[in-house]
Amino acid sequence: MIKPVVVANWKMFKTPSESVEFVDRLKNKILDWERVKIILCAPYTSLFEMGNSLMGDGRIDLGAQNIHWESEGAFTGEISAAMLQACGVEWVIVGHSERRVLFGESDEDVCRKVMTAIEEGLSVIFCVGETIQERKAGKTSLVLGEQLGTLLAKLTEDQLRKLLIAYEPIWAIGTGLNATSEQIAETHHILRRIIEKTFPSAASQVAIQYGGSVNQGNCKELSEVSEVNGFLIGGASLDVDQFGEIVKTITEVKNR
Ligand code: PGA
Repeated sequence: MIKPVVVANWKMFKTPSESVEFVDRLKNKILDWERVKIILCAPYTSLFEMGNSLMGDGRIDLGAQNIHWESEGAFTGEISAAMLQACGVEWVIVGHSERRVLFGESDEDVCRKVMTAIEEGLSVIFCVGETIQERKAGKTSLVLGEQLGTLLAKLTEDQLRKLLIAYEPIWAIGTGLNATSEQIAETHHILRRIIEKTFPSAASQVAIQYGGSVNQGNCKELSEVSEVNGFLIGGASLDVDQFGEIVKTITEVKNR
């Protein structure tokens, strides 16, 4: 069984002190820590202090929301893998639709970021997902095949183990309108088949998460979808109590 994994994507929210307060409160929650993986992806400015607060804890992983594909250089405003790792970061989100759509990141940019992250020792939460127009036009599997296939062609099987896939239909992100259980099951199947094409034996071990308006109210139903190995949560991850309840729910459902 793949251990359920719950990722918080705080986006452009929380100051360093708010972030550390969240960590302190999460650490005190009664969760089945051994049976779930928790990753907090915070703004850059929070990472150093969060890293200090999580040092030696071992129950919560720290993640960033972006990375540059070069190791260092004249790239104003960018951040490198080594800088993130120095703060205790082990994960990075790459390919989020907000980066693709609002900041013009292409499949090629996204692949370069993933390769650098992995080569420098980070693990990657790789986001894919279709627009509502693409879904209505029956192009979902084509789009996912391009987004994921381009990357898989560059990876070795060892590198694949550093990857966590997040399926995030763009129309479900921040809209309050989550994909249905049937849509999620079907799309996760498609993704698993895409991975199998390149990695027939390792595909079953890759965790595929769902993201898009996951909250305390719908997390039980979404956890019941057997194809779902975890969640990538935006808005609902900002509140530590709600986040804790979602973690509790998926841990219970997946471990019963
Ligand atoms: P949401 O965001 O949970 O607020 O829909 C998910 C995401 O963008 O990762």
